[in-house]
Amino acid sequence: MKFAIVGCGSRHSMFRNSILDVYGETNEIVAVCDSNAHRLGLAATAASKQGTNGVASYMADDFDTLLAEQKPDTVIVSTPDYTHADYIVRSMEAGCNVISEKPLTTDLAQLKRILDAQERTGKSIQVTFNYRYSPARTHLKKMLRDGAIGEITGVTFKWYLDRVHGADYFRRWHRQKKNSGGLMVHKSTHHFDLLNWWLDARPEQVFAHGSRRFYTPQMAEQFGLSGRGSRCLTCPVADKCDFDLKAQDDPNLSVLYVDAEELDHYYRDLCIFDEEIGIEDTVQATICYDTGVTANYTLLAYSPWEGYEITFHGTKGDLSQKHIEVHGVFGGKRDHADEDALSTVLHLAGEQPQNVIVDQGSGDHGGADPIMLGYIFAPETMEEDTFSRKSDHISGGWSILTGIAANMSIEARGAINISEMLKSNGINLF
Ligand SMILES: NC(=O)c1ccc[n+]([C@@H]2O[C@H](COP(=O)([O-])OP(=O)(O)OC[C@H]3O[C@@H](n4cnc5c(N)ncnc54)[C@H](O)[C@@H]3O)[C@@H](O)[C@H]2O)c1
Repeated sequence: MKFAIVGCGSRHSMFRNSILDVYGETNEIVAVCDSNAHRLGLAATAASKQGTNGVASYMADDFDTLLAEQKPDTVIVSTPDYTHADYIVRSMEAGCNVISEKPLTTDLAQLKRILDAQERTGKSIQVTFNYRYSPARTHLKKMLRDGAIGEITGVTFKWYLDRVHGADYFRRWHRQKKNSGGLMVHKSTHHFDLLNWWLDARPEQVFAHGSRRFYTPQMAEQFGLSGRGSRCLTCPVADKCDFDLKAQDDPNLSVLYVDAEELDHYYRDLCIFDEEIGIEDTVQATICYDTGVTANYTLLAYSPWEGYEITFHGTKGDLSQKHIEVHGVFGGKRDHADEDALSTVLHLAGEQPQNVIVDQGSGDHGGADPIMLGYIFAPETMEEDTFSRKSDHISGGWSILTGIAANMSIEARGAINISEMLKSNGINLF
């Protein structure tokens, strides 16, 4: 299979290395594309196999030429979220299948464009919901599907981003909703996709509250950061700030971003306390599903630890999972948690709680990434996917609807009905 990659920032290297280092016998990268010539050059060099003439590279303005000249079978889209739709549509129009990073897109108008183009061209879109592939989460899917707690009635789901990972969304393009849809779309698309998939259900109504409570100018004052600058590199009080990124001293960040910033003014280390930030860091939502299940969901982006807690309630009892992925930020090392940081408990009515032994997997995102890459690049070598983990434009679409509705609900201070939202935008996702 011939692949082209558009968007050569940090995420694209997972796809690139996987094709080159693991699945190169049956796959090749024919071209890379980016709007930044520096990152494009780095990617082209890294994607070129030794002993070949290298990989073709195209600036973003020449993307259509890339499609016409290189004729890739599949385009991998790993650009910022607000640009996904355009690349997805142009790729499909040129006869290519698409693998898109999450979120599929950020708003309803772009979702409609994607769905219309998919219908017109018949091409496939896969959204890389790696979280579905982590063995621990697949295990939950199996237990729920096998009726471990009877009929599912409700869910409590809390996802915590720590003060390193969480802060990162406030440093660069993610910090404005027009770019990322805010954390409800950009990040929670993973979580809402998991809920849709675990519950085998679609969201019908969303009621959310959200605000920015931590990454604010007032918090900077509380931390004694008066006179702070607009970015870490030139900030007069960086030495007093626990959030100083020091991108210039980090080998990966300096090569990929600091060395490239003169070309497009993409600063990787903008101040996380800026007034102009337009996304929430604290959101709580209630979601009603078409199966009658209701979910309470929390996203927090400044937690002292990183991970999630979920409890499914059912007619026979509860199933819970807690995964501490990272702990010990500030006042200590930022350590990845120990193996026992994953616990899964089945508590059936009238019985003692039982610890469920769950495979933790290995590799990024809870062992999810390597498994997903196997299904993408060498599906014939993988066992049959009885959990339906592959995600297409329909599930990709549904995964952003909860977040889009949550954003609307935060704004309107009222519940949002998803069927009405779809109808008024001329979208049919059934
Ligand atoms: N599934 C996951 O767990 C996961 C993890 C990280 C990122 N992502 C997703 O991957 C995508 C990329 O994220 P990232 O962290 O690599 O971002 P990044 O900012 O590091 O990289 C984006 C790249 O796209 C380029 N770019 C920007 N606008 C462009 C345009 N119009 N045309 C062509 N190139 C353009 C930038 O120059 C940059 O090289 C995002 O959609 C993000 O949500 C997914």
